[in-house]
Amino acid sequence: MKKIIFLPVISLLFFFSACKSHNTDAGPDKIDSKVDSVLNLMTLDEKIGQMVIYTSDWDVTGPTLKSNYIDDIRKGNCGNIFNAHTTAYVRKLQKIAVEESRLGIPLLFGYDVIHGHKTIFPISLGESASWDLEAIEKSARVSAVEAAASGLNWTFAPMCDISVEPRWGRVSEGAGEDPYLGSKIAAARVHGFQGDNNDLSDSLTILACVKHFAAYGAPIAGRDYNTVDMSKRVFLDAYLPPYKSAIDAGAMSVMTSFNELDGVPATANKYLMTDLLRNQLGFKGFVVTDYTAINELVNHGVAANEAEAGLLAVKAGVDMDMQGEVYFKYLKKQVESGQVDEKLIDEAVRRILKVKFMLGLFDDPYKYCNAEREKRLVYAPEHLQAALDVAKKSMVLLKNANNTLPLEKGEKIAVIGELANSKRDLLGSWKAAGDWDFMKSILDEIKTYNGENNVLYSEGCKMMGDDRSGFAAAIATARKAQKIIMVIGESCDWSGEAASRTNIQVPGVQTELLEKLRALGKPVVVVLMNGRPLDLTREDQTADAILEAWFPGTMGGKAVTQVLFGEYNPSGKLTMTFPRNVGQVPIFYYEKNTGRPIYLPNDKYKSKYIDCPNTPLYPFGYGLSYTTFEYSDITLSSNTLKENGKIEATVTVKNTGSRDGDEVVECYVRDLVGSITRPVKELKGFEKIKLKAGESKPVIFTITPDMLAFHQLDMSYGTEPGDYKLFIGTSSADVKETSFKLE
Ligand code: NOJ
Repeated sequence: MKKIIFLPVISLLFFFSACKSHNTDAGPDKIDSKVDSVLNLMTLDEKIGQMVIYTSDWDVTGPTLKSNYIDDIRKGNCGNIFNAHTTAYVRKLQKIAVEESRLGIPLLFGYDVIHGHKTIFPISLGESASWDLEAIEKSARVSAVEAAASGLNWTFAPMCDISVEPRWGRVSEGAGEDPYLGSKIAAARVHGFQGDNNDLSDSLTILACVKHFAAYGAPIAGRDYNTVDMSKRVFLDAYLPPYKSAIDAGAMSVMTSFNELDGVPATANKYLMTDLLRNQLGFKGFVVTDYTAINELVNHGVAANEAEAGLLAVKAGVDMDMQGEVYFKYLKKQVESGQVDEKLIDEAVRRILKVKFMLGLFDDPYKYCNAEREKRLVYAPEHLQAALDVAKKSMVLLKNANNTLPLEKGEKIAVIGELANSKRDLLGSWKAAGDWDFMKSILDEIKTYNGENNVLYSEGCKMMGDDRSGFAAAIATARKAQKIIMVIGESCDWSGEAASRTNIQVPGVQTELLEKLRALGKPVVVVLMNGRPLDLTREDQTADAILEAWFPGTMGGKAVTQVLFGEYNPSGKLTMTFPRNVGQVPIFYYEKNTGRPIYLPNDKYKSKYIDCPNTPLYPFGYGLSYTTFEYSDITLSSNTLKENGKIEATVTVKNTGSRDGDEVVECYVRDLVGSITRPVKELKGFEKIKLKAGESKPVIFTITPDMLAFHQLDMSYGTEPGDYKLFIGTSSADVKETSFKLE
């Protein structure tokens, strides 16, 4: 191939005629042969260029920037760009790649479209609390449409990292602690980004990226980027399922994680990237590193220098170097000296080119660069409507003593807190291209709904710091009102990447002011904005009602208002356990029983704390409604589950209140005796149902043996006969119970 030296123009013509008509002729074999026809034209430098991605200087999402990326595109040394968007800018860069590089191979354009591109949805942890897979898929779909309309063809999402670590700021980007729910949500997000049929050639779908592979959500002590150390069984049973589910759903790219697993950093981990991902899970797309993750192998201490780090990564099966310049600097020499077999490079480039063909970029490199379409689709009214819908569904009512909520229209309300008047914070971390100037704050929306004259505002205090000078004014304001709403929580940059905390209480003096307001004897409602489970013990003791609003996105102000005033009956449920204090962390519902469980009759010698209950403040799956639901006992179609058989478990759920409402019905099992110890509960199904006031509905869960499989003593994956418990209820801690036998 090196012998073929084309003049640029001739090569371009030849090249495009070799690659055209992918859409009409898109079978895998056809694409493979087109990929090979391109590969045959490429020099080693050009191949390595495809294995490189640089950030543009439009957005900063990591520690390094590169000023000469445009020149690298022109020279064929950079085949992919991230953090560049808008049709105008993408077109400009794509034009350089297509018209000025020797072979004219189009660029991929990636971006962290995590919970929206322009129209921002609630943070992913918040969305997961909706337990509404259709709404979550819709959120990803809208995000993809807006991203694609703005020139992008690749998102670095979904994040599929299970986490039981509220100290870790990145729990805000995931779907919480549960492998089953996490898997369903991971698949829904992939379908949303890549479209129902994974038709990447559709110009309104974008490539999904499963991240961060693997086990990034379990850093020791919750400190971002820290070491991960877990048993292989826990990894396979609890952490792997959402990644697997996203890959099974058709995601065509995967990002390596920053952490090590069992002593081997993910970016150098052949077991993860080749044996597991490709050989066992059958992944057919390409692997990109996280930001400078190859370089960081030197800091990890598995490579003496960057050249060695690059060798480890390429041999592990890592196809694309994000921002590190390691492949660019060293791979060519390593191939020429025989340290790296060129076949490895060819394989990596094949995988990357294949995705470019699937996206249809060779047919039309500017297919995402239609300025008219961008104008029409970005912030389209139906997108804002979808964001409002998901934001309402994601909110979790944590407390509602004496039916303090909903508020009545026209009541005199005091609104207190810096967050009540903040627009930027509504968007949360990873706000992508979302802007907040035109948005409305919670305060704005409450005024619009309740009438300007019925709403009094005082900031009271900032989110951070210990300045109490605004307390007196806030108290004076609250005295004039019938009810008090205080919006408290974390600022938007207190969760997300590099935002770990050791203290997970509400920061600053916000809670102190809340306590002073409570002393006025008027009903106090807390609206929370935060990106992680917090220790809300003081707030729970103080407020009459608590609404967890997360960072609810572009339409967050309106969503909070509609929930507070009962225009929408809250239906969200927690997908991460909220501890009583940070000392309980990690705390999650699928714990093991231990040999000395808390229920033993003796007082001392059992697994417990001497200063705190074992139970969390708010358990996984918990969330209240403005109505009430009653569960019947469970009936089983049989008490015996046979191999290849099934059992139907039925409960009847009744809305016993006076308002219509939605309820998430949750189904758990427990394997009582195993070859290894088994969790006390594992989620195996859920259904979100709508019930009118007074209405009853049966909900049926079908239990099959494959749902009970796990990695057994000898690490084989399968089921073990014996006795099981089955639970159905409104949260992991409030269930009806029955039992069955697996034969
Ligand atoms: C680092 C983050 O870990 C990752 O999630 C993100 O996609 C990349 N930076 C690119 O911004």
